[in-house]
Amino acid sequence: MTRYARITGTGSSLPPRRLSNADMVTLLAARGVETSDDWIVERTGIRARHFVADNVYASDLALQACLQALDAAAVPASEIDLIIVATSTPDMVFPSTAAILQQKLGVAGCPAFDVQAVCSGFIYALTVADAMIRTGGARHALVVGAEVFSRLLDFNDRTTCVLFGDGAGAVVLQASDTPGILATDIHADGKHTSILCVPGHVAGGQILGDPLLKMDGQAVFKLAVGVLEDTARAVLDKAGRTTADIDWLIPHQANIRIMQSTARKLKLPMDKVVVTVDQHGNTSAASIPLALDHAVRLGHIKKGDTLMLEGVGGGFTWGSVLLDF
Ligand code: UT7
Repeated sequence: MTRYARITGTGSSLPPRRLSNADMVTLLAARGVETSDDWIVERTGIRARHFVADNVYASDLALQACLQALDAAAVPASEIDLIIVATSTPDMVFPSTAAILQQKLGVAGCPAFDVQAVCSGFIYALTVADAMIRTGGARHALVVGAEVFSRLLDFNDRTTCVLFGDGAGAVVLQASDTPGILATDIHADGKHTSILCVPGHVAGGQILGDPLLKMDGQAVFKLAVGVLEDTARAVLDKAGRTTADIDWLIPHQANIRIMQSTARKLKLPMDKVVVTVDQHGNTSAASIPLALDHAVRLGHIKKGDTLMLEGVGGGFTWGSVLLDF
């Protein structure tokens, strides 16, 4: 019998500190940096984002999201035999945030590792977990996106600091006789490294280079709208499905205009697109599982719905997963 991987529970977590655009205007004004609610809403669709407190790490947000997902799946943590965390903001250089999360979950022994594909990280992690489950390497996986991007932001750079937020989302992915994940499609093109990066690194007891986020927004925007259409069509082809089969599109939540463009190209109405960027900003690898969990908990996404998940980000990386929920 063919073995598939199926999502059986979702969870998410947001830090309690919520900053509206008005709060960002005040925060930046104190540094002599000018922005406005009108500009942020019109150019991005973002109205608010959440930032962690100084003593909170990606693994803490991941833990809360995982506990919710395990509860929703009615799977005890002791049954988990694979943990993958997608993050670009790990707790430490090493060990992995997944290993730290494993300890916080009170389990030991199963493989736990991070995937670093920036905003496409959750799509990459889900692809790896799907392959491991289908080939018999795991039965109950926790797949997580967790980020504390506030730590990477340059609050003197208005073109980036208003865009990002912190959060985590998680799913329990289980072996199943029925799909589940129908197809996956992931890509990278390293020649675009410089348009979205955090160029600093640790060496000789110091940070060398600039450890703050740099982005050429227009170049990223242009690339994103092209590759998101390509990967959507590729994953549908692999699964033998068409856009008419999609009940919900859950794109990476970076900019409402990118989502509208993808929906338009795929001829999907916006009421089939899950949008949380307005309340969360761009939470990088966490944005897709966060949006998924919110739509599930609101009762919008129901068992049996066909979902397309799509990510794009630094690397440049991009990809998609098509699944029956
Ligand atoms: O998660 C990874 C994927 N990341 C993305 O998908 C991001 C993709 N890019 C974008 O979403 C958009 O390019 C941005 C939202 C980053 C920028 O929007 P844009 O429409 O491309 O604006 P722009 O960079 O062309 O800037 C237009 C103007 C500039 O002023 P001038 O030169 O025309 O006078 C900027 O200085 O808007 C100005 N500006 C701002 N004004 C007020 C840029 N940021 C701000 C700001 N507040 N925060």
